[in-house]
Amino acid sequence: MKIQKIGALGAGQMGVGVIQVFAQAGYEVVAVSRREESLQKAVRTIDKRLSGRVEKGKLAQDEKDQILARIRTSTKLEALSDCDLIEESIPENLALKKEVFAELDRLCKPETIFGTNTSGLSVTDMAAATGRGDRLLGMHFHNPAPVMRLLELVKTIMTSEETIAAARQVGETLGKTVVVAPDVGGFIVTRLFTPFLLGAVHMLEEGIATREEIDVSMKMAVNHPMGPLEVIDFIGLDTELSIAETLYEETKDAKYAPPLLLRKMVTAGWLGRKTGRGFYEYPAH
Ligand SMILES: NC(=O)c1ccc[n+]([C@@H]2O[C@H](COP(=O)([O-])OP(=O)(O)OC[C@H]3O[C@@H](n4cnc5c(N)ncnc54)[C@H](O)[C@@H]3O)[C@@H](O)[C@H]2O)c1
Repeated sequence: MKIQKIGALGAGQMGVGVIQVFAQAGYEVVAVSRREESLQKAVRTIDKRLSGRVEKGKLAQDEKDQILARIRTSTKLEALSDCDLIEESIPENLALKKEVFAELDRLCKPETIFGTNTSGLSVTDMAAATGRGDRLLGMHFHNPAPVMRLLELVKTIMTSEETIAAARQVGETLGKTVVVAPDVGGFIVTRLFTPFLLGAVHMLEEGIATREEIDVSMKMAVNHPMGPLEVIDFIGLDTELSIAETLYEETKDAKYAPPLLLRKMVTAGWLGRKTGRGFYEYPAH
């Protein structure tokens, strides 16, 4: 099946980037989110990002106009019914994702492929909530999606080779390097990166170093563009907690156990950049 029309579900941190990369690659995009404000904000953000590229001479004005013209928005799931592929970027909550995929399964044409942007939840569980387990896979973009070059595909025991091939082709059209991982908690990237991020929270919690000392050390010593606490603020503390819980639940390995400080900060509503406060403060929020 030729993939031409793509649905993007969820217009939060990841959704915005996902909408942008698909529209930039020439796909017709239907962006659906629960709230109209999120959709309007997403389109404004993409418009602003593209304007920056036009000002720098990296993008022609008419190309920018064409990219924006390819994006249609709706708050109704029904708007996705005739998409060839749907990429879901709603919150990291398995029950919610299963519910939404079951609903999409009822609404969409039989050929539609479903992708989930989950960072580490069981893709198999989502596939089993639909009648099209062969056409559901993980399509894990990295944040920010327009900048990060990796697309991690996640293949469950139900995913067909045709589905993987179609998703790989889409990923390559986006200019991404594609890797295929099995459906184990955290896949490749999150499974490897999470203990490092949680280690930074433990180090702060134990008073071994300040937030600045931890972050500057990793930036200066290992050449990471952001320190681990800055990264968690960027990802969202709620998302990071959910990732740690999922990995710990699956492996019972102490290196994935969520630090108490992370849990308390989430309870306090300090979710990182998106709420204006996490390990750092973001007054302009
Ligand atoms: N934040 C990251 O760095 C990152 C990186 C890679 C993957 N992910 C994954 O991407 C997904 C989304 O994460 P995020 O950081 O963008 O979250 P977010 O909280 O910023 O955005 C979630 C969006 O989904 C919308 N939404 C909630 N329920 C919905 C529903 N039932 N139907 C439609 N829209 C709904 C919300 O209004 C919001 O726009 C998660 O699975 C996360 O693990 C996140």
